[in-house]
Amino acid sequence: MVVELKKGVYWVGVVDWGIRHFHGYELSTHRGTTYNAYLIVDRKTALVDTVWGPFQRDFVENIRQIIDPSKIDFVIANHAEPDHSGSLPEIMRLAKNATLIVSNRGRESIEGHYHQGWSFKAVQTGDKVSLGGNELVFVEAPMLHWPDSMFTYLTGQNILMPNDAFGQHYAAAFRFNDQVNEKELYEEAMKYYANILTPFSHLVTKKIEEVLSLKLPVDIIAPSHGVIWRRDPLQIVKKYQQWAAQTPEKKAVVLYDTMWQATRRMAEAIADGLAAEGIEHKLFHTALADRNDVITEIFQARAIVVGSPTLNRGLLPTITPILEDLKGLRFQNKIGAAFGSYGWSGESVKIIEEHFGKCGIPVAAEGVLAKWQPSADDLANCKGLGRKIAEAM
Ligand code: FEO
Repeated sequence: MVVELKKGVYWVGVVDWGIRHFHGYELSTHRGTTYNAYLIVDRKTALVDTVWGPFQRDFVENIRQIIDPSKIDFVIANHAEPDHSGSLPEIMRLAKNATLIVSNRGRESIEGHYHQGWSFKAVQTGDKVSLGGNELVFVEAPMLHWPDSMFTYLTGQNILMPNDAFGQHYAAAFRFNDQVNEKELYEEAMKYYANILTPFSHLVTKKIEEVLSLKLPVDIIAPSHGVIWRRDPLQIVKKYQQWAAQTPEKKAVVLYDTMWQATRRMAEAIADGLAAEGIEHKLFHTALADRNDVITEIFQARAIVVGSPTLNRGLLPTITPILEDLKGLRFQNKIGAAFGSYGWSGESVKIIEEHFGKCGIPVAAEGVLAKWQPSADDLANCKGLGRKIAEAM
């Protein structure tokens, strides 16, 4: 259902209640998502972003409720990923006279995706396009979260459309932040930040400072996923500043996989040590836990404790994706520790500790390695490791 944000500005996106995995690297989306697009009807008409291809029919019908798509003068593609650009071929077919406005890197990416000779206009930060009454102002936002990413701001109505930034994978019955469950909203906003934007945190901080220094009035922040920030819209900007600082809470996350329960028992003994020192913590069995939920917990925590048995002189395979995420997401202000059991050779603790080094995560205390099932002494050492991690925090 089309929703009017402000006079002449319409949400014409779609809600995807069914999606449970996003992107090639499988970002879990337990609460679905939305693909937001905005139609601005002034003396000229602009469409900001499109939706993922499978929803193109619903999207075009939404636009038709307001205008004939052939009347669209400008299509703005803030970002080339197909969840936003997927309906461009259909829209550009219908809006035959439209100019497609992109960043320079956006042009490169969209040409690469679609190989169409559309009428492109590449813009830079500060460039403006008049819609007759109000203007569109563009702000390049490279690496938030792709090199092509761009924000579009509508003067007069004071609406910032920052594409993926400030978004959430959150399908809801209503479109605005004052109409949904705030706890769910922030869970999804944080998960989005933790899994997508963490490595670009320094750029998030700089971009927010740059945009705030422009002193543009902002009545609404309308991202490309999830709900639209209407009540106190800058609350999510302040939250991003806080998240970008990556100041962890005094919490620990213990990750493990286990073959015959030895490493699980070690994990629980470490947890006992943490609990004895009053440290809040969560344990995750990586073979069963959702990787993206675990990443969100790691994002908030100070300590990451990773355990694996040794298998084929390496780790159990379910541990590896999380370790790759630790490296790729470049978490700041963390400490780490390792543990694991073994039978015939015992490389796992050394491998995990070396991996922490590649992630820039200092090892807080020497790891615990137990042969076969952990003895009482081994479990005492694990509890001791939990206490040492607590101390290091
Ligand atoms: Fe980067 Fe929502 O796509």
